[in-house]
Amino acid sequence: MSDVINDDRIPNNVNLASDKKLQRALMQWQPRFLEWWREMGPDGFQEHQVFLRTAISVDHEGWAHFDYVKMPDYRWGIFLADPLPNRTIGFGDNFGKPVWTEVPGEHRNTLRRLIVTQGDTEPASVEQQRALGHSCPSLYDLRNLFQINVEEGRHLWAMAYLLHSHFGRDGREEADGLLTRRSGDVDRPRILGAFNEPCTDWLSFFMFTFFTDRDGKFQLLALAESGFDPLARTTRFMLTEEAHHMFVGETGITRIVRRTAELMQRNESEDVRRLGGIDLPTMQKYLNLWYSVSLDLFGGEISSNAASFFADGLKGRAKENTYPDHRALEASYPLEAPGGGEFVPQEVPLRNAMNEVLRDAYVQDCQRGVDKWNEVLKKAGISYRFELPSRRFHRRIGIYADVFTDPKGNLISRETFDKQRDAWLPSSADQSYVKSLMTKPIFAPTEMANWISPPPHGIKGRPVDFEYVRRGEA
Ligand SMILES: [Fe+2]
Ligand SMILES: [Fe+2]
Repeated sequence: MSDVINDDRIPNNVNLASDKKLQRALMQWQPRFLEWWREMGPDGFQEHQVFLRTAISVDHEGWAHFDYVKMPDYRWGIFLADPLPNRTIGFGDNFGKPVWTEVPGEHRNTLRRLIVTQGDTEPASVEQQRALGHSCPSLYDLRNLFQINVEEGRHLWAMAYLLHSHFGRDGREEADGLLTRRSGDVDRPRILGAFNEPCTDWLSFFMFTFFTDRDGKFQLLALAESGFDPLARTTRFMLTEEAHHMFVGETGITRIVRRTAELMQRNESEDVRRLGGIDLPTMQKYLNLWYSVSLDLFGGEISSNAASFFADGLKGRAKENTYPDHRALEASYPLEAPGGGEFVPQEVPLRNAMNEVLRDAYVQDCQRGVDKWNEVLKKAGISYRFELPSRRFHRRIGIYADVFTDPKGNLISRETFDKQRDAWLPSSADQSYVKSLMTKPIFAPTEMANWISPPPHGIKGRPVDFEYVRRGEA
């Protein structure tokens, strides 16, 4: 990455100082961002010292510097991956033409909408998670939560920068809008459904970072292919941060599974709840919930929007260069759409199925994580296995939104679904039980909540029982 300039009020590697107008606009946005952070960021920990990763130095590895910092003093900045020389558009009707460094007039509205939709999810997740610190299972986990929160704040900066630098007055208004909507607010909700669900317990948090943040990863992968080069470069750098969020979700659930397995090893038929653990069927229900709401984030299976994003070179497939045909004009995609009380095979023109193609890549990636959790169970000699439900299950968007299925994807009646709902999705009793395990935070560095096992390693060579978050001065 090119040099990071840190002596500016806004750290950046885009030579912000050379564009006074843009610099001024962003410096006006900065206090409003901080106001939002203080109001909607992690509740009760703004004065704590947190051992965080920040971009602070100019050498190429310097963006990953670790130190104690109070979250409102975090150095949120603007970092773009370096431009690839002679990059050309990798897909669609403009395949092979040079990428755009300025917004093409005819795609201005569409690009702005894509950026605003992505940008809106970043502050939304911080808002959803703002109360979690009060029930943390350890200081290690508390620190990881805050690392994700400040990085989602930086992702918001990344999108606000694009809006300010390329979309003029309406861009500035949209950047303000990103700070005024609120997750779950009836009057000013966040744009996408899953980002209006509160995330108030740590099992949900780990499921969120595994399933919902992973949707983010795939959206970023698709945008990293964009013919609009500033968007591609911004999202490429965001992906390096996103990897940590995936890590927190995947290892968080692995540690819960490991702890539950430990409790079960004494006796497989033992009631794990009696021992203060989270039983595997309850975890499966949370998995069903967060997986299905995250599948919705990819949009409808058959989508003319997705087709035109692809045709115009605005949003590609994840790792576009791994596909043989970058125009995708001839091929079709087989789907099973509900109709007349059954699922009927259907061929959809490939471009119209791009949401589904991206969802396929996501499903595969999720399966890898599930396999790892099952590996833990297998090694512990436990026969239970987690399963991703069918992608038709519990959907609110797309062609399966109006039908009811069981987790295997078989059509059922609404009555049957209602009767079985609590066996497939977290019941209110399950939710109260999970919350009952998390009524108090654990702030002693040497302690870990009973329902989760400790991580194998600490952060950046520090021990697991390091004081990752502390009160007062550093
Ligand atoms: Fe993000
Ligand atoms: Fe994320």
